[in-house]
Amino acid sequence: MDEPSQAAAQLIARIEEDVARQLGGKPKRLAHSCRVAETAVELARAYGVDETRARIAGLLHDYAKAYPAYVQVEKARALGLDFGCELALVTPILHGPIAARELAAIYPELEAEIFQAIERHTVAAADMGPLDMVIYVADALEPGRPSNPGIERLRAAVGTARLDELFFKTFSGSIAYVIETGRFLWPGTVETYNHYVSRRSQRKDLHGIHLA
Ligand SMILES: [Fe+2]
Ligand SMILES: [Fe+2]
Repeated sequence: MDEPSQAAAQLIARIEEDVARQLGGKPKRLAHSCRVAETAVELARAYGVDETRARIAGLLHDYAKAYPAYVQVEKARALGLDFGCELALVTPILHGPIAARELAAIYPELEAEIFQAIERHTVAAADMGPLDMVIYVADALEPGRPSNPGIERLRAAVGTARLDELFFKTFSGSIAYVIETGRFLWPGTVETYNHYVSRRSQRKDLHGIHLA
């Protein structure tokens, strides 16, 4: 059990206040962020990841969702974010990288790993680390997400499946959702997906224990 120190508890309390202020106009988004933080802590505990970092990244992951889409596009442009396509096409994934950069300036005392996980909860990466995967999965599996057979299978696999398998299945599900809803699929996501597929196919030890 990994109880936060008094300093960490104070920092978390300050972050909770900041998030409540930032997302104050969006109570559903705020509640989602709190649930993602709780789910991230549970995942962190199950997979040996730092629980305090998981809680902080979960609380802050949707910080930039407070901004309207056009502001996110303006901010992304001002930050020089390059997605290799028109920014308006990738509006749903801008808030991760924007938040990572803004929050790094607000909380210089936090570890880079936290900002990386916040960035990657929307854009993912070929080299996702354990905290990146915990936040990505927590965002998709938090209890406020409507139940369906795919989500329930993933929720049931927490703690027994490998974290990278849990991530891969969650990531694939997100891609399927983008396609099902007829939205633009960023080529960077396809590249990352193909990377994990080819890596998995080389892992003989995974045969037979892939999540369905
Ligand atoms: Fe998000
Ligand atoms: Fe989220």
